Amino acid sequence: MKLKIAVLAGDGIGPEVTHEATEILRAVANLGGHEFTFEPGLIGGVAITETGTPLPPTTLDLALDSDAVFLGAVGDNKFAALSPDKRPEAGLLQIRQALGGFANLRPSVAYTALAVNSPLRPEVTKDVDILFVRELLGGLYFGAPRWWDQTSSANGGGEAINTMRYTRDEVVRVARVAFELAEKRRKKVTSVDKANVLEVSQLWRATVSEIAKDYPGVTLEHQLVDSMAMHLMNTPRNFDVVLTENLFGDILSDEAAVITGSLGMLPSATIGGAVNLFEPVHGSAPDIAGTGKANPLGAILTAAMVLRHSAHLEAEAAAIEAAVQHVLSEGYRTADLARAADGTQPVVSTKQMGKLVQQALTEATDRRQSMHAV
Ligand code: IPM
Ligand code: MN
Repeated sequence: MKLKIAVLAGDGIGPEVTHEATEILRAVANLGGHEFTFEPGLIGGVAITETGTPLPPTTLDLALDSDAVFLGAVGDNKFAALSPDKRPEAGLLQIRQALGGFANLRPSVAYTALAVNSPLRPEVTKDVDILFVRELLGGLYFGAPRWWDQTSSANGGGEAINTMRYTRDEVVRVARVAFELAEKRRKKVTSVDKANVLEVSQLWRATVSEIAKDYPGVTLEHQLVDSMAMHLMNTPRNFDVVLTENLFGDILSDEAAVITGSLGMLPSATIGGAVNLFEPVHGSAPDIAGTGKANPLGAILTAAMVLRHSAHLEAEAAAIEAAVQHVLSEGYRTADLARAADGTQPVVSTKQMGKLVQQALTEATDRRQSMHAV
């Protein structure tokens, strides 16, 4: 199969982890006789430095002309003083909007080998497998009006506004994605809102309840976002698909990294638009950029999501996930994951971790092929 992938490595550790993820995709292509091509483009702080804008038109054209977009990370403290619409993050929001994907899928899985990495007790995280479906194009991130009037003489010299707005249609389309995914999983959707205070959440809750009627096999429950933040840590096993609006999803998905043990482990895929967008959940981590310490597993697991959601290569996606589990079960750790002081867990660099996963993937594929040959 052919796949043209736009690779927007971005800032900080973005290029390092993206390199490992694309190496894995190359390995999958070689093993399976697929033709994947990778076209680099600028985004974020590096794009501001080189072109003056966080999302140059050439990058946007490239992205729209691709089968999938793989994004590393954006964000650079150098630009912290700029207004939100000029910062590296603006490039990310612009490309999300331009590609049109409204359902951001963020799996949060507890790996047995990483049980000690979570501050939660192993019996709490055991078997946890949650899929967050975060609405990505609405709410406070995009609602108008939005401004910060720093010069206003009223209100002590400053006033700012952001708008949380959703239409019924925006809720319907993301809710359908959540219910359809739940049908293929453990058949439960937890919809998260703040319906005891916000009208937007009342619309959200009423709409999700209505859509649920089309999916009689799926159980729907509603949770308020504040108590959800607590339940997620107390009883994460109770959740299957968690559906929520943009900002709540941003916050809860970082919280859910506690279950896995490191933000460096979380992948994401954004679907529903013209071109799917894939990005690990972690940020640009400028403090460790260039040191070889970054954990590439979030990016590598994101590569698995590319195969699953943009190439219908489910077996290959599952093989990458199994290879990651295998390497972890052998004890290999990047610095963020290292816990054992007795040498039983070799601490490896970004590149070494990438190679280990690639090796495990190749060996598993060879084993499968020789079994078929018998
Ligand atoms: C994320 C990030 C982004 C977001 C930032 C970098 C704009 O935190 O993908 O979770 O808030 O969506
Ligand atoms: Mn976030």
